[in-house]
Amino acid sequence: MAKRKEKLRVALIGCGGISGRHAQALLADKRVEITRLADISPKNLKRFKERFPDLANVPEHKDYREVLDDVDAVSIATPHTLHYEQAMAALDHGLHVLCEKPLACTVARAKKIAEKAKQKHRKLQVGYQRKAESQFRYIHDQIRSGALGKLYFVSVVLSQQWLYLHKGSWRQNPALSGGGQLNDSGSHVMDMLVWLFNQKPVQVSAFSDNRGTKVDIDSAVNIQFDKGALGSVAIIATAHNWGEVWHIVGSKGTLLVDGDLKKISEVNGKAEDVVLPKQESTHITTNWVDAIFGKAKLLSPAEAGVEVIRLTEAIWKSAAAGGKPVRIRSAS
Ligand SMILES: NC(=O)c1ccc[n+]([C@@H]2O[C@H](COP(=O)([O-])OP(=O)(O)OC[C@H]3O[C@@H](n4cnc5c(N)ncnc54)[C@H](O)[C@@H]3O)[C@@H](O)[C@H]2O)c1
Repeated sequence: MAKRKEKLRVALIGCGGISGRHAQALLADKRVEITRLADISPKNLKRFKERFPDLANVPEHKDYREVLDDVDAVSIATPHTLHYEQAMAALDHGLHVLCEKPLACTVARAKKIAEKAKQKHRKLQVGYQRKAESQFRYIHDQIRSGALGKLYFVSVVLSQQWLYLHKGSWRQNPALSGGGQLNDSGSHVMDMLVWLFNQKPVQVSAFSDNRGTKVDIDSAVNIQFDKGALGSVAIIATAHNWGEVWHIVGSKGTLLVDGDLKKISEVNGKAEDVVLPKQESTHITTNWVDAIFGKAKLLSPAEAGVEVIRLTEAIWKSAAAGGKPVRIRSAS
């Protein structure tokens, strides 16, 4: 294990699309050195090195287990069902872990990872980057400060061409994805639903349609929160656009997110652009390194990953039972 005055040696496990975002942040961080790359696909490794010429001489491994003895930390960006084994193996080796979402595809597995991270005193961050983004941080603060009053209603519409774009990819193969769009982009929405508000989801009722595939494609979800708020979530993976719209309604005003953020005050009913406070942009990856060096608290620790899959699993259960309400926890 490197002493903290030495550079943190990081291996990237999975060198596909999103791993590049982590590589970018890590390469820009003087405290870090990317010393190993692991991916089962030589083609993807080649493409990754072309994208990041600074990594040209970094040793490549087909089997991620080969890197675990030689690094201090790993960034995992592989298909969803692989996260459990890879995160557990890394923690067993005493490594810090940045794990892409979802942390795991069942509550039981996510809890085991969270327990292991605690037991090993390692920093495990889940890749829910919205917690580092000023727009969502603003909403979070509006709720926590009471500026929006009592939360009454949240509605979210996430629309993507996900069915068509990912046909034939691991994302629509349940053995690798562990679920469909609810577990993929939907996972970010679930993360916000459990993080933004000062109320917790207690019960869901959901309908899903696989649209002829083996995973959930379109889902219509109703949520009851523990202090009276209601939620309505549409996850549309058959859409022809790429969008996300939120209505967050409190007793003192409404926040509208549709790319931009607008606030409608209770006083005049007018929608006004919110000028976001200038904020030091903290990358979720940088926050992870900060936490390892004792400079910050993790923005998205393992427990966040447990809460997301708790909500997702309840939605799957309800949809499988034809919309029957499924309780997540008792109301307070
Ligand atoms: N936070 C975000 O906004 C965001 C965005 C996109 C993807 N993701 C997440 O990142 C992860 C990866 O998604 P992606 O879009 O980069 O997928 P991708 O298909 O582009 O990349 C996955 C990579 O993992 C490699 N891989 C597969 N099996 C492996 C194994 N056993 N060992 C090592 N490497 C293996 C593949 O060869 C591929 O290069 C997923 O968990 C996904 O949900 C997060």
